[in-house]
Amino acid sequence: MKSLIALVLLGQILASKATSEPFPPLIGRRPDCDDPEIENAAKIAMDHINSHTLHGYKHVFNRMENVKVLPRRPTGEIIFLEMDTLETNCHVMSPTPVENCTVRARTEHAVEGDCDVKMLLLEGQYKVLSTKCHSSPDSREDLQRLCPDCAPLQPLNEPEVMNAVTTALAEFNAHNETDHHYDLLEITRGRHSHMPRATFVEFAIAATNCTEKEANEHKDCHVMTGEHAHFGFCKATVFKKPSGDGPTILMVFPDNVVACEIFDKKVGHSHTHLTQHHLGKKIPSPGVGHTVLDLIHSHNNTLASHESHSAEVPAVQASPVVKRAAVDVAQIQPMLHLQQCPGKYRHFAI
Ligand SMILES: *[C@@H]1O[C@H](CO)[C@@H](O)[C@H](O)[C@H]1NC(C)=O
Ligand SMILES: *[C@@H]1O[C@H](CO)[C@@H](O)[C@H](O)[C@H]1NC(C)=O
Ligand SMILES: *[C@@H]1O[C@H](CO)[C@@H](O)[C@H](O)[C@H]1NC(C)=O
Ligand SMILES: *[C@@H]1O[C@H](CO)[C@@H](O)[C@H](O)[C@H]1NC(C)=O
Repeated sequence: MKSLIALVLLGQILASKATSEPFPPLIGRRPDCDDPEIENAAKIAMDHINSHTLHGYKHVFNRMENVKVLPRRPTGEIIFLEMDTLETNCHVMSPTPVENCTVRARTEHAVEGDCDVKMLLLEGQYKVLSTKCHSSPDSREDLQRLCPDCAPLQPLNEPEVMNAVTTALAEFNAHNETDHHYDLLEITRGRHSHMPRATFVEFAIAATNCTEKEANEHKDCHVMTGEHAHFGFCKATVFKKPSGDGPTILMVFPDNVVACEIFDKKVGHSHTHLTQHHLGKKIPSPGVGHTVLDLIHSHNNTLASHESHSAEVPAVQASPVVKRAAVDVAQIQPMLHLQQCPGKYRHFAI
């Protein structure tokens, strides 16, 4: 592939020389995947992806798979990145900087993302032009091999997962001394363990304008927006307690305390999206039928365009270009450089 591109470019150079085309060819670069310049671009791309993700978790950069840099007329460069990411345990609404978020352990069933990113580099400044991501969990077989007792991810709308979340949220609302009754925004993870029988759930919540008492009286409760908005993220372990022939009782472990982190007021992209589009099931959560909230649902589609490479490099240019008599060797050399890709894993391979 590399040599093919080099040949094509070389062919273009020779062709333009032979026919004396008025425009010099544009020669791309193929920096190494672990080049510090590329690492910097990846960090900027990752920040952009996290701040534009509407569901689920923040991701961290894990490995650069491929990189290509094309010159842009009249100035600047277009950078194409293919990068691998990993899910962290911070919800996208969490104000915790991603550097402080823990990468999801493989034993908790890790989730990997694949992102295609297109960036503009102009006067030393990077600008993200488009991103296209997709995320998927590690295979169940790999998880089994790693730890036979590890609980795999369940579909987010699986009845036991949903019951566990309902139980946990009810416990949080009943026992926590917050001023407001909280509603469910989205379920982000659910796993079952068999010995003992328990369900591990993670979910995002939002404060309504009702107190707990008003909510129990079935008052008209709405999620608060704007400056009154409050969001949170909860983790709970819910046990199944068999009760003879009667219905199973769900109990939150330990001591019926649900650990919810209530975030400081900070209304962003994902908050607005979740409250406006998914609360009250106006639009079903993308988790329905899936074990993860795919990053593919996370982006503003108007931004995630999928243009071809050539579209960025206009073939015809208005300003006159000086004909070149010979091919500049210095310009060919970069493409003959054997690119070192993919780069190293920052965390682990899955
Ligand atoms: C993030 O981690 C750094 C270094 O460990 C620490 O100084 C900082 O307070 C942390 N920030 C947050 C918001 O947790
Ligand atoms: C909550 O807000 C809605 C809409 O603004 C309003 O109709 C409702 O009465 C409020 N509920 C309470 C308990 O204040
Ligand atoms: C209320 O929530 C906080 C934060 O999750 C937790 O530390 C505290 O123990 C909870 N209180 C009760 C009574 O459940
Ligand atoms: C998507 O992008 C458009 C245009 O940039 C913007 O007006 C709109 O608010 C965005 N939607 C979301 C959900 O971010």
